[in-house]
Amino acid sequence: MRINKYIAHAGVASRRKAEELIKQGLVTLNGQTVTELATTVKSGDVVEIDGQPIYNEEKVYYLLNKPRGVISSVSDDKGRKTVIDLLPQVKERIYPVGRLDWDTSGLLILTNDGDFTDKMIHPRNEIDKVYVARVEGIADKNNLRPLTRGVRIDGKVTKPARYHIIKTDRQKNRSVVELTIHEGRNHQVKKMFEAVGLKVDKLSRTRFGTLDLSGLHPGESRRLNKKEVSQLYNAAVNQTSR
Ligand code: URA
Repeated sequence: MRINKYIAHAGVASRRKAEELIKQGLVTLNGQTVTELATTVKSGDVVEIDGQPIYNEEKVYYLLNKPRGVISSVSDDKGRKTVIDLLPQVKERIYPVGRLDWDTSGLLILTNDGDFTDKMIHPRNEIDKVYVARVEGIADKNNLRPLTRGVRIDGKVTKPARYHIIKTDRQKNRSVVELTIHEGRNHQVKKMFEAVGLKVDKLSRTRFGTLDLSGLHPGESRRLNKKEVSQLYNAAVNQTSR
């Protein structure tokens, strides 16, 4: 197995991140620094990253209903609460699949499966990520339509998105809009609404591919079963082979 795939399988980093670690000279195979990205790993070989041996552990997948006020990382140098603090004791080294902002709530998957993570976050695979945003202002077809073609954020045009206006409140001058996207750029939904003149004041992710948050209150989590994981895989694979 190629070394970047082996590292991703071990859940330490995605394949692309593994390649970066190799380029940085941080990866050794049986004590020798790896310089070739095409290096392969055989059974019995010892791979270390920054001096730490890595092991291929059982793949696990968790679904969390993330509350606001929690960060989507494994640890925080400022001691803030992380999504890992909300899960029961998990012996595998899991990490979030993509990120939700500190003040965004909703659906987050955590896993130690790097290949799965790559598939879920690559925009080519067109996995639906559905958000519900409360925005300041009145949303209508005219101001939202550009989102369906793509808007420029941080110098790059977003992929076409779908929207559905859930409600508008003229008295309070605000609206609730559902937005479906396939990418996961930094603060993407907030920036997309900003690009059409609407400021997000509350954001939640309600669906990720075939998964929703049924039965999970904020702060609660559960393990995904095999069927749910393969449905997510299939959703990604089907899109790839179109
Ligand atoms: N888009 C955002 O702006 N924030 C999130 O947390 C997720 C998507």
